[in-house]
Amino acid sequence: MRPDQAPADHDDLDPKDWPATRAQAHRMLDDMLDYIQNVRERPVWQPIPDVARNGMRQPLPRRPTPLAEVHAEFLSEVLPYGTGNVHPGFMGWVHGGGSVAGMLGEMLAAGLNANLGGRDHMPIEVEKQILRWLGPLFGMPEGAGGLFVTGSSMANFMAILVARTAALGADVRRRGLAGAPLVAYASAAVHGCVRRGMEMSGLGFEALRAIPVDRDWRMDIEALGAAIRADRAAGLRPFLVVGTAGTVDTGAIDPLEAIADLARAEGLWFHVDGAYGALARLAPGLAPRLAGIERADSLALDFHKWGQVPYDAGYLLVRDGALQQRTFAAPAVYLGREARGLAAGSPWPCDFGPDLSRGFRALKAWFTLKVYGTDHLGAVIEQTCVLAQYLKARVEASPELELMAPVNLNIVCFRLRGADPDALNRSVVERLQVAGLAAPSTTTLHGRLVIRAAIVNHRTQPRDIDTLIEAVLAHAGNPNTA
Ligand SMILES: Cc1ncc(COP(=O)(O)O)c(C=O)c1O
Repeated sequence: MRPDQAPADHDDLDPKDWPATRAQAHRMLDDMLDYIQNVRERPVWQPIPDVARNGMRQPLPRRPTPLAEVHAEFLSEVLPYGTGNVHPGFMGWVHGGGSVAGMLGEMLAAGLNANLGGRDHMPIEVEKQILRWLGPLFGMPEGAGGLFVTGSSMANFMAILVARTAALGADVRRRGLAGAPLVAYASAAVHGCVRRGMEMSGLGFEALRAIPVDRDWRMDIEALGAAIRADRAAGLRPFLVVGTAGTVDTGAIDPLEAIADLARAEGLWFHVDGAYGALARLAPGLAPRLAGIERADSLALDFHKWGQVPYDAGYLLVRDGALQQRTFAAPAVYLGREARGLAAGSPWPCDFGPDLSRGFRALKAWFTLKVYGTDHLGAVIEQTCVLAQYLKARVEASPELELMAPVNLNIVCFRLRGADPDALNRSVVERLQVAGLAAPSTTTLHGRLVIRAAIVNHRTQPRDIDTLIEAVLAHAGNPNTA
């Protein structure tokens, strides 16, 4: 191209008709608000009909489709077939219910389209503010590192990497493990992502010792001590212990204080997986049960669970931010730092984790924390535990049901008695889900399949517990009840 032949302006992606787009955007927002406002009128979940599933399989859209048409397709083919976790009857797995303020924050973040990998801009200050709030809440000093990540699977994995640096020095990044016989410890009830983190970090899952749990599903501290001693005697190198604040199956809280003492005495990194339980710190009635969490070297938690922030919004806190930086920071010539201008503000978030480009997850969390306030969020968390106690009481009052684990926080494991209880309870859960009445999930405790209700959603009320119990009881002695 000759320099005197400047190309013509091209057709960019902004609306051609701003007023029409604005009206359509308002309709889309209204529809979504209607969806949330009227959530109770719909089934908790419904299976995806073949026509919707197949209808999604379309060729790459080379030609444009009007926004209103795409939205209409979303309304009819996508919206009705979500996971259901916005619904108060959803009690499966450990899913948060989201919130309107969080949703709006997410929308604004998308409009701003900020990249929080680095550089000097206000969105990074918002993310730093979350650290200024969270750090003191969890006893972390000035200089602690904090970073939004996808979820606690990622946060736990990153914590293993930071602990690995603490044990072997940053040289591990150059040399790899080089045969260092590192071993880590977690309770047998730890979330599977910790084992995967061991695999991904090159340590291998065999180097994760599954410490037995007591009758309350809490790590047995004597067994932990014995395992550490045995490994040292075998010439291995203990480096990390993971305590869980709210296990995924039963909501058990490991004896964090005792683990912290032992970790300190043995010179181990103390990581807490507080994926959903950590935010119980916001609830005055529950906070004392997390005593010891403030001594963690690192902590994983999710705002998208009990924090009611829309997915995804995981978080990693590390007491020694400089160590976290030494674990991840990787210089690149085009990412040079300056004292002034857009390239100022070093260190950048990308120096504290594996992601370079990062979205503005912090904004939806910032909106949620500010709009509701942590007192209200804490009260909601406490209320889910009250509902769990109510569910427990209803289970115990029903001779057809048996409680299968202690109710520590907001998770209730129970099942219908019957001839083949595993098959019966599996089919009951499936039927409840398909009928759209309630959505608990299942887990296996001591080899027995149980119905697991994890009450996480701020919208769940006592009547939703009644619906669950009555729907389960409708199957008592009659596994074929629809
Ligand atoms: C205790 C615990 N740890 C880790 C995770 C994984 O978190 P995420 O799904 O955010 O990756 C979960 C998920 O439920 C959990 O309950």
